[in-house]
Amino acid sequence: MQEVYDFLKKCGTYYLATVEGTEPKVRPFGTINIFDGKLYIQTGKVKPTYRQIKANPNVEISAFINGQWIRLKGKLVEDDRREAKKSMLDAYPELRGMYNEDDGNTVVFYFEDAVATFYSFGGVPKEVRF
Ligand SMILES: Cc1cc2nc3c(=O)[nH]c(=O)nc-3n(C[C@H](O)[C@H](O)[C@H](O)COP(=O)(O)O)c2cc1C
Repeated sequence: MQEVYDFLKKCGTYYLATVEGTEPKVRPFGTINIFDGKLYIQTGKVKPTYRQIKANPNVEISAFINGQWIRLKGKLVEDDRREAKKSMLDAYPELRGMYNEDDGNTVVFYFEDAVATFYSFGGVPKEVRF
C-alpha cells in the first residue's frame, strides 16, 4: 500500500473512474492519504463523483509518470470519522479554503479489496493487493 501511495503522490494527479449506470465517468483527482493503515481519497458530497461511488463503490484509478503507470481498482468505503477527514485535510492544507471537517460536504473514502498493478513499457506488470 505504501508503494501505491508513494507512486500516486509522485504522479501528483491521477484519474479516477466511476460508473454511472452503464457509463464510465473519469476525472482528475489528486488527494491521497494513508490513515489508520488504509489508503484514502477525498471528495465533496455535492459532486456527481460522490453520488456515483455511493451507488456503485467499484472504482479504478490510473496515473502515469516517468515511463511507469499504475492501475488501482477496489471498492471505496466511506469513513465518516472526523479524524480521518482531519488527517486528509492536514495533508492538503490548501484544500482548507474549500473544505473543512465539519462542513457536511467533505468526505473521505478508503480502499477495500484493492488490487494495484504497476506497468512499464516492456516490463513485467507487478501486482500488489491490500
Ligand atoms: C489536478 C486536479 C486534482 C483534483 N483533485 C480532486 C480531488 O482530490 N478530489 C475532488 O473531489 N476533486 C478534485 N479535483 C476536481 C475534480 O476533478 C472535479 O471536481 C470533477 O468535476 C469531479 O468529477 P464529477 O464532476 O464527475 O464529480 C481535481 C481537479 C484537478 C484538475
